[in-house]
Amino acid sequence: AVAHLTLDPAFVIAPVDRRLFGSFVEHMGRCVYTGIFEPGHPAADDDGLRGDVLELVRELGVSTVRYPGGNFVSGYRWEDGVGPRGDRPRRLDLAWRALESNAFGLNEFMRWAALAGAEPMMAVNLGTRGVEAAAELVEYCNLPDGTAAADLRRKHGVARPHDVRLWCLGNEMDGPWQIGSLTAREYGRLAARAGHAMRRVDPSIELVACGSSNSGMPTFGAWEATVLEEAYDQVDYISLHTYYDPEKHDEASFRASAVDLDGFIDDVVATADHVRAKLRRSKRIKLSLDEWNVWYQSRFTEPEDRDIEELPALIEDDYDETDAMVVGNLLISMLRHADRLAIGCQAQLVNVIAPIRTEPGGRAWRQTIFHPFAHTARLARGTVLRPALTAPAMTTGRYGEVPAVDAVATHDEQTGDLTVFVVNRGTEPVPLDLDLRAFPRHRLARHHTLTGETSPAAAPGSQILLPPVSWHALCLTPEES
Ligand code: AHR
Repeated sequence: AVAHLTLDPAFVIAPVDRRLFGSFVEHMGRCVYTGIFEPGHPAADDDGLRGDVLELVRELGVSTVRYPGGNFVSGYRWEDGVGPRGDRPRRLDLAWRALESNAFGLNEFMRWAALAGAEPMMAVNLGTRGVEAAAELVEYCNLPDGTAAADLRRKHGVARPHDVRLWCLGNEMDGPWQIGSLTAREYGRLAARAGHAMRRVDPSIELVACGSSNSGMPTFGAWEATVLEEAYDQVDYISLHTYYDPEKHDEASFRASAVDLDGFIDDVVATADHVRAKLRRSKRIKLSLDEWNVWYQSRFTEPEDRDIEELPALIEDDYDETDAMVVGNLLISMLRHADRLAIGCQAQLVNVIAPIRTEPGGRAWRQTIFHPFAHTARLARGTVLRPALTAPAMTTGRYGEVPAVDAVATHDEQTGDLTVFVVNRGTEPVPLDLDLRAFPRHRLARHHTLTGETSPAAAPGSQILLPPVSWHALCLTPEES
């Protein structure tokens, strides 16, 4: 069976938003300490920022980085991580039952993000803290001077404001594991009150309300509706979190994880628009997929079952080619929803379910999932196009029959470059016919492939062979006339 893919420049979904290629740095395991920050490492600068990791982060093409959590933020006092290092307290982090030295904090992160070329996305603690601490944090970050928190930042040696645009109102506040978890009504009210105060400090900031921790939560849907009923006017985005576990369901369902993400995004869009209709508002809420990845979650040990440690090696999953194909397919799903999905943060960036791994005192390297992310972030330019696609079916335990091939395209009107991102998530090779009738001068200039197969056989004629379980970026450029 053959797959057919037709492209037309008129089938526009939306412009490519660079914020879709974000990532996430949490004070968890070895993401910060011995990940991005390791004083004394041969590649570290005078502030302890690892240059070898920064180089890989720039290669990955990360646009936006969420910080400092995650579950960690729900027990965090941001004041502990600023000012002279010698004065910073050692604390017990309740989220991961880890010892937090606070040697790395807000100002170190901002310096690191600038070196990485990434926009910071800050989260405030709505678990153990609330309106006042959140507003003061915005003041510390964004006001120039003349108020207590802004002057404190200047005293800490940072004269210019960090000017942080994007703010998360807490993290996964529906989760019973979350320190200070709340009901939807309680959280919606708190998010509205905190957002209101934060905007009084800086009216130009953008705010993300917590959606459900995942679409399997018993309150999924109702949670989003209630939170938005309370906070619709104060927020710009609602968050989505999703992780796919290769060992939780049948293997075919794992390979087709993007089917689940498609449905999840559609459901949250529908819920947000339902509240819009109910409240008779004109504004549309956008979506922030600010945690997503493959995670071998069934291997995870709950914090209660571990001893307190300083640098626990938490969830340092090793990824294979199938995991990378799934990551590539999730990025395809994200691009396909670029009309409503504005932010994506792969969780996490270094060591903790991450594309980049490090050894303390040693090397840093790329995992398989690094490659589809880096290529998509680099090649997806201009506008997202919806291809017309027919493909052979594959059978999955969770979703029934689904197309074995999935694809999306981007078109850069400036250069004329066209990139088609394609996966074959089935176990049979599939020849792909590309119908370029609307792009008659375009030719295949480069073909990037990620597959477990060592030597993909050629397909007859102009077809492109998609080996089983493979990810592809097809770069088409216009021929000079
Ligand atoms: O990314 C790991 C954890 O997963 C985050 O801290 C939390 O928000 C989510 O449950």
